[in-house]
Amino acid sequence: VVASLKAIPVPSSSREIIPARVVIVGAGEQALTNLIPSLQQMPEAQIVAVCDADLDRASSLAAHLAVENYATSMEALLDSVNATAIIAACPPQAHEDIIRAAARCRVPVFVEKPPASSLDVMRMLTRESERAGLISGVGMNFRHAQPYAIVKELLKKPEYGQPISVSVRFLASKPRQAMWGLSFLRTFLLAQVIHPLDLMLDIGGKIDSFQLVRIIQDGGILLDAQLRYASGAAGSLLCGTCAPRFAIRVEIVTDRDITISLSGLSELVVTGSPSSPVPGDARAWSQHWRPSPMDAGFQRTGYFPELAAFLHSARQGTAFHPELSDLLPTYELLDELERRALR
Ligand SMILES: NC(=O)c1ccc[n+]([C@@H]2O[C@H](COP(=O)([O-])OP(=O)(O)OC[C@H]3O[C@@H](n4cnc5c(N)ncnc54)[C@H](O)[C@@H]3O)[C@@H](O)[C@H]2O)c1
Repeated sequence: VVASLKAIPVPSSSREIIPARVVIVGAGEQALTNLIPSLQQMPEAQIVAVCDADLDRASSLAAHLAVENYATSMEALLDSVNATAIIAACPPQAHEDIIRAAARCRVPVFVEKPPASSLDVMRMLTRESERAGLISGVGMNFRHAQPYAIVKELLKKPEYGQPISVSVRFLASKPRQAMWGLSFLRTFLLAQVIHPLDLMLDIGGKIDSFQLVRIIQDGGILLDAQLRYASGAAGSLLCGTCAPRFAIRVEIVTDRDITISLSGLSELVVTGSPSSPVPGDARAWSQHWRPSPMDAGFQRTGYFPELAAFLHSARQGTAFHPELSDLLPTYELLDELERRALR
């Protein structure tokens, strides 16, 4: 993958932009396939250093990006590169150390999900980063995905009403084994369930209660939960590792008889919209959104907009969302799911 990363020329119209100086921490698959290619499309970003616990990985990525600075210690790099922001994609325990080091050095930090291995650590990190005035960001790319951002915009309009039902299906073929020195169940929760749960909270707000319908563990896990939002809305969450390939589906019904359904981040259908072509017969009409066939993907999957927004926050000294504290309700529910699943 390293060999396929290319320097992308900066468009002439944006030459006057002084780019944010970015330190990449973790030269693994996520950085190479999604984060760095997204940053390379941004004139406002310049990768100035690479850090990885594995020196060979750090030096090989630095060479391919034509970056002089690389090391196995992030703090040593931060002393010398005048960084605007740190972008990290490592195991959760490493994220914990990276966030603490960023707080000490007062450099805004973005970490991929999961930001930490447990709720207790998340609470500590949130307190420490707030005390240090640290700008933090967590990589929940689905929140920034182009069609999902459209859904959120629609839900802000009073004429679309409030959700009375939110259903998220998030099925994948992995993880199929324990990672990060955690149990398989904890790995599954932190690697996968964190995404749909975060979306459910982002769409419908506080969740009051839930019932875990079943969990099957046979080389994989399937988790099926019925939720009740504080607003009174019903929620349904299905996620698991038993699918042949990744599939995501979000369906929302509102109290204005509108349904919004998003499949695979590539098809958004709104039925009963107040702006249907024949207003008197709105219920009979559906409106479709589909990405351009030329769409390279990072807008649609959310990686480009989330990193662009984070770098904007880092430069302006303003908060980015989701920041560490925004993930606390998600971690509380992940813990509760784990407790129920182990009963
Ligand atoms: N947003 C998403 O949907 C998404 C998708 C894939 C992965 N991720 C997340 O990205 C992270 C990385 O995943 P990956 O697949 O690239 O893993 P990976 O194992 O391929 O890469 C991780 C890299 O981090 C390095 N590393 C470990 N500890 C370190 C430390 N203390 N300091 C510096 N480098 C260190 C490793 O040497 C390795 O090169 C994980 O947290 C994963 O959950 C998020």
